[in-house]
Amino acid sequence: MPRQLFVTTALPYANGNFHIGHIMEYIQADIWVRYQRMMGNAVHFVCADDCHGAPIMIAAEKAGKTPQQFVADIAAGRKPYLDGFHIGFDNWHSTDGVENHELAQAIYIDLKANGLITTRVIAQFFDTEKNMFLPDRFIKGECPKCGAKDQYGDNCEECGAVYSPTELKNPYSALSGVTPVLRDSEHYFFKLSDPRCVAFLEKWTQGSNSQGQAHLQGEVYNKIKEWLLPDAEGKRDLGDWDISRDAPYFGIEIPDAPGKYFYVWLDAPIGYLASLKNRFIKLAGDVTLGAHNYDAFLADPATEQYHFIGKDIITFHTLFWPAMLHFSGRKTPNAIFVHGFLTVNSEKMSKSRGTGLDPLKYLSLGMNPEWLRYYLATKLTSRNEDVEFSPEDFMARVNSDLVGKYINIASRAAGFLAKRFGGQLGAISDDGTALLTQIQIERTSIEQLYEAREFAKALRETMLLADRVNEYVDANKPWELAKQADMETRLHDVCTVCIESFRALTAYLKPVLPQLATQVEAFLKIEPLSFASVSQPLGAGHAIGNYQHLMQRVDIKQLEALFEPAAPVEPSQTAIESIAPGGETLAPVIGIDDFSKIDLRIARIVNCEAVAGSTKLLRLTLDVGEATTRNVFSGIASSYQPEQLIGKLTVMVANLAPRKMKFGISEGMVLAASHADEKATPGIYVLEPFAGAQPGMRVH
Ligand code: MSP
Ligand code: ZN
Repeated sequence: MPRQLFVTTALPYANGNFHIGHIMEYIQADIWVRYQRMMGNAVHFVCADDCHGAPIMIAAEKAGKTPQQFVADIAAGRKPYLDGFHIGFDNWHSTDGVENHELAQAIYIDLKANGLITTRVIAQFFDTEKNMFLPDRFIKGECPKCGAKDQYGDNCEECGAVYSPTELKNPYSALSGVTPVLRDSEHYFFKLSDPRCVAFLEKWTQGSNSQGQAHLQGEVYNKIKEWLLPDAEGKRDLGDWDISRDAPYFGIEIPDAPGKYFYVWLDAPIGYLASLKNRFIKLAGDVTLGAHNYDAFLADPATEQYHFIGKDIITFHTLFWPAMLHFSGRKTPNAIFVHGFLTVNSEKMSKSRGTGLDPLKYLSLGMNPEWLRYYLATKLTSRNEDVEFSPEDFMARVNSDLVGKYINIASRAAGFLAKRFGGQLGAISDDGTALLTQIQIERTSIEQLYEAREFAKALRETMLLADRVNEYVDANKPWELAKQADMETRLHDVCTVCIESFRALTAYLKPVLPQLATQVEAFLKIEPLSFASVSQPLGAGHAIGNYQHLMQRVDIKQLEALFEPAAPVEPSQTAIESIAPGGETLAPVIGIDDFSKIDLRIARIVNCEAVAGSTKLLRLTLDVGEATTRNVFSGIASSYQPEQLIGKLTVMVANLAPRKMKFGISEGMVLAASHADEKATPGIYVLEPFAGAQPGMRVH
């Protein structure tokens, strides 16, 4: 019976692009999902942007956007990362979607009906200028312990003290600078201290699922145990959970509580369900039917639900989330899979800045995404352990193991098969059969390792098998057999064994290297590989295709370029040094909100012609992805012939008020560079985007 799985990764905050830590989590989950599919299991693999909360609301305001526009712009940037690293989510949704609003309210109503919601008045810092309660992160002041200035409301970065914002000396609002005042407000709480919750969580956190697997990894249980279990005096740390925030807040309104919103961490995990529901609605092409199918799927006891998350969000997923689900009468997760943090060059990653390893830069340097998938997989285990990316290690693993041991098997045999045997496989003698059997025998063990998320071990076993194959090649030396006329049959035999081995190893690597596996399937002219296909050899007479190089080695220059720091730009400093690059001093510093008022778009120059009566102007017809083209006059006739520009992409200011000129109306402006002193340094240079940009894309 195929299993039916619902798998998620944590929902990333919609306040910035992915960093390499996110990509690691997605790669880990994606490998597991691909493995499940290869085993014939059905998987819904979904994610979404985590959109709500005060920090995102404030960031949006700073960017001069509505929160909705702000998170939509972030969401629009997700695809290149996911596609680029072959991460195959079935659906990407948003916690601000209608499904999440409905589900969060429904779950809350069920918890309330179950007597698990309570209210309490608490005093909190209020910013009288912004007219809002301040989240801890937005209150600063002097550390109550060591007196360090400009510390956050929850802990001191100087001495490490942990405190509540009300303990800060001389507190001020990080938003407006005013001294906040304490103000009372009614808050809503999820009664986790209720004996029913405590009893449920004690049991659930130690329990196991229908597969006999523990809900939590041992080390994860040990961590939350301190929190959950009573201390020597019988006291527990697990208190009621504050789930409400006051307006203004970007979030979901609490039913029958005007001006109150769910705290972002209440509706965030519900976003898993919302994304799943949204997928069912899309699949059904109908809201009612989709909702019905979604209900049926989650009501089915056979459905298994798994969440991949990082170690920083354990309490939300192992305590609050199962309790919310259970006490609202819903299905609880079958397991929570916690991974450690990725460090790069031993450096910890900052939530906002990431690390020196920028995923898009990696791709733009032409580095193979499957190198990274492979390398991270060689480090990933089922345990909550940190993972270190070291460039030297990365290069060694990819070049000597992946390319040197595995790819080499195919490249060594394919040439002889093509040249000498018309690309057809031959008969295999006993020693070859023995080798292939050895490879097949490991199948169950490798399957189990993937199932248990022991990717490092699965790859180690696979590479040990590759070692066996290479020993066989070295012992038989096909390059020498090829020189001996009477060794034709043996050469055919040995090369066939290589290809059959290579096929089996490719199946074992396929969850990690999906694209490479597709290339191999095309090269071998075979159906998509599964684990089961490992025991079904192609057989003599099967014709394979022409070998084309499957994978390059990592070039040290690529790694150097990857970690080359981007030159820091400090406009104010440049101004102080009074350098005048390009012949003019820099304009005064502006904020991002000023910049975002200018709407720059990619435009295709569909036509360009000289303007009769003007030596300076060219008339451009621009396609900016709108229903009609735009007419723009540009003073670039001294530098370009009209035909040079036709068909090219450029950048235009798309929200400039139309201007009536002597020759007609100009509906925008194209961007071009020139030196302030045009006589000394002549030339005007129209901007052209890198390949891949499309008309209508916004330039940020
Ligand atoms: N929005 C919350 C999660 C809500 S889930 C209902 C959040 N977002 S996040 O963007 O900060 O983190 C998303 C995921 O990335 C989390 O699982 C987090 O642990 C993971 N990682 C963040 N930094 C990481 C590393 N350096 N290494 C590996 N994973 C990391 O938390
Ligand atoms: Zn301090």
